Amino acid sequence: MAHPPPPHRLKTSIAIIGAGDVGSTLAYTLLHDSICTEVIMVDPKKELLEGQVRDLGDATYGGRSGTRVRAGTHRDASHSDIIVITAGAKQKEGETRLDLLTRNLAILKSIFEPMKPINSTSIVLLVANPVDILTYFAREMSGLPESQVLGTGTSLDSARLRGELSRRAEVAASSIDAYVLGEHGDGQFIAWSSASIGTTPLHLTLPPNTLTPATKAEIASHTRGAAGAIIAAKGCTSFGIGSVAASICKYIIFDSHTVRPLSFFQPELGCCLSMPAVIGRKGIVRAMRIELDEEERGFLVSCAENLRGVIRGAEE
Ligand code: LAC
Repeated sequence: MAHPPPPHRLKTSIAIIGAGDVGSTLAYTLLHDSICTEVIMVDPKKELLEGQVRDLGDATYGGRSGTRVRAGTHRDASHSDIIVITAGAKQKEGETRLDLLTRNLAILKSIFEPMKPINSTSIVLLVANPVDILTYFAREMSGLPESQVLGTGTSLDSARLRGELSRRAEVAASSIDAYVLGEHGDGQFIAWSSASIGTTPLHLTLPPNTLTPATKAEIASHTRGAAGAIIAAKGCTSFGIGSVAASICKYIIFDSHTVRPLSFFQPELGCCLSMPAVIGRKGIVRAMRIELDEEERGFLVSCAENLRGVIRGAEE
């Protein structure tokens, strides 16, 4: 029996606001993996934008990517399937992500104003920091349904955690299910009670005495301090966040219904923070239930309290 003709190749477009280290690394990953047909880069720094687009263009012609890269305006970006916001002041050595808030909230406003109205099916993915607070305000500014506005959140911290556990357990990181939840920042916590390798609880799979309170604290501090250590060494983080953001874009474009911890609005907590969710073309398809023990629930509640305090401060 003859096969039906292949469906027309649909145009899929991802706009990246901000052509700095993170934006350009994300663009490179998207085109390297041919995740969409078009990447639109937007940045008010014209010379930088032109340079990045030309360099990325060379990479598409030099390799075998099916993705085209072009410079565009905020209006062009507003028609894209995904609008990724990487633009913002960078965290300096010794600064927390929350220190960036005032500067990056102003930048966020200047990004959304010229984009309005945004295509009603677009997904907005926040990468800039402090990502949980910016995700919260981006919901209002974008005018999009809540499920279509999300932040990379602790997906990167969870990748860092899996990397560390993978080293200790001598098992591929992809076989480890362990989440960092809460704030992408100092208020994060590890959901140890649900962590597993394969389907076996973590404490049964690691060598004896590997998961003592002291080693747990060491792993948590390693994960929490990773960005600071990288920034101290090279001035920014870009490859880790670029590849995590590209994976999230892939889950959305391919409607893969992948489960990842991402920052999105938590109605019962009154803020955006990371909890596991099913991700697809509609953004947050649904929140995943996760069992937390009493200590973890305590961390979640105090993390949310802290974030709500920051939100109130920013609203005044
Ligand atoms: C990091 C930045 C993206 O954690 O916050 O690398």
